[in-house]
Amino acid sequence: MDIKERLGYIKNLTREQFAALQYISERLNSEVYEDAIVFETLDWVINVVNAERVVFAKYDSATGGFSLIASRNANKDIVNKLEDFSTGLLKLVLKKKEPVLFHDAQNEPGISQLSSVLLKRIRSVIGVPILKNKEVWGVILADSQSDRREFTDSNLLFLNFFANLVSLALEKALKIKELAEENTLLKYQFEEYNRVPDMVGESKTMKELSKLIHRVSASDATVLILGESGTGKDVAAQAIHKLSSRKDHPYLAQFCGSIPDTLLESELFGYKKGAFTGASADKKGLLEASDHGTFFLDEIADISVALQAKLLRVLENKEIIRLGDTQPRKINVRIIAATNKDLNQLVKAGTFREDLFYRLNVFPLRIPPLRERRDDIALLADHFLQRLGSPGVKLTRAALSKLESFYWPGNIRQLLNVIQRAIILSDGSRIEEESIILEETSHEIKFDGTLREFERQILLRRLEEHGGNRTQTAASLGVSVRWVQLKLKEIGIH
Ligand SMILES: Nc1ncnc2c1ncn2[C@@H]1O[C@H](COP(=O)(O)OP(=O)(O)O)[C@@H](O)[C@H]1O
Ligand SMILES: [Mg+2]
Repeated sequence: MDIKERLGYIKNLTREQFAALQYISERLNSEVYEDAIVFETLDWVINVVNAERVVFAKYDSATGGFSLIASRNANKDIVNKLEDFSTGLLKLVLKKKEPVLFHDAQNEPGISQLSSVLLKRIRSVIGVPILKNKEVWGVILADSQSDRREFTDSNLLFLNFFANLVSLALEKALKIKELAEENTLLKYQFEEYNRVPDMVGESKTMKELSKLIHRVSASDATVLILGESGTGKDVAAQAIHKLSSRKDHPYLAQFCGSIPDTLLESELFGYKKGAFTGASADKKGLLEASDHGTFFLDEIADISVALQAKLLRVLENKEIIRLGDTQPRKINVRIIAATNKDLNQLVKAGTFREDLFYRLNVFPLRIPPLRERRDDIALLADHFLQRLGSPGVKLTRAALSKLESFYWPGNIRQLLNVIQRAIILSDGSRIEEESIILEETSHEIKFDGTLREFERQILLRRLEEHGGNRTQTAASLGVSVRWVQLKLKEIGIH
């Protein structure tokens, strides 16, 4: 058909048909695909071609049958059964791959003997194929049982246009649906199985942790990472940054344990020229330097009460004041903090500000100790063998079970050290049980004396660890300061 012919055809469309096509094309083109649109367009078809019923059926090439997508009668009721329509006519359109129109189906040779046509007393019928890649995707069939002889060639033309619009819209809708499904699946897989950067572990606990890490990375919430030393708190903090939208901005970290207060403050907040002796020029602090990025405050439990107040300002007002300055500066930094101490206890003991605790504890993330994920030990050992440049070295069964039954007070860091030592002791191909040397770290107490003696040792060690500070010692042991004082008196220390 050339343009002139086509134009001639199009001129046959009535005003109403044009209006309908325009409306339908708009509806079908709308951003969101809804089933309602299909029904609505079918209502238009019924009205425009003056049919009694219309059905939109999808052809299934695998079974050779049709299934109902939507149907309507003139009362806008849904005709639920495809069997109410003529399968013979559907098949005819399928075979011809072009529109058909019969004004008087009952007397039409080749059509009248279709049992369905007879049975359903169909008078006039109009059917158009919906083609996809030159194959019949479905059929739209409109029919009337009364002898109205209303279906015209322009109806046919209209339905043809309509079918083309529908096939375009369907293709789009199906693609969107397909993509949406694929997207859900990928998201699920990503959360469920995609590992966290640099974090090895397939155990149930680690999978759950990685899910949480992915979830919190998608937000901008402050995260408090809790876990024993060596469990992977640093790794987790970096992973959150790498998985977040801040990933292209800086990630900076500061270890806050056992650092003189003013030094820590000037590191974090920077200083103004002349703020103290040696401050010869203005200096940006690390928090400012990590603007738009992530800042990791490691061992947060150890910071002084004065610095705690300043950190609270960072979290509450998103601003910092340089040492020796008065002017606050706005910063946009995501804070991640970590500790291996029980902050709740420190709050109770009064060494950690409660308000800061709540500000930090928006999203607590507990990293389980290695002994709670022994399933991962083999995997981690392999990972470390590779990381340490000995990918060919294998652990014997006995060596592995030795690793798997240990208590791991120093967690993954300790495992790394043990593997490192084992490599040196091994023959370069196998690691035997003897090469696995497990040391008790300072965190573990090896003891076979009385409970009283045990108490004494642990108390003295803690006291030493906290530089003689009784409040902190009490907090770390989960007891009252009075208890500590009492015990010390018993021991004979004042
Ligand atoms: N899940 C893990 N997979 C691989 N290596 C890990 C994992 N967790 C921790 N590590 C490694 O163990 C060591 C200690 O981890 P780190 O994050 O510093 O622990 P923490 O900060 O809790 O003391 C690091 O060398 C780190 O790379
Ligand atoms: Mg750490």
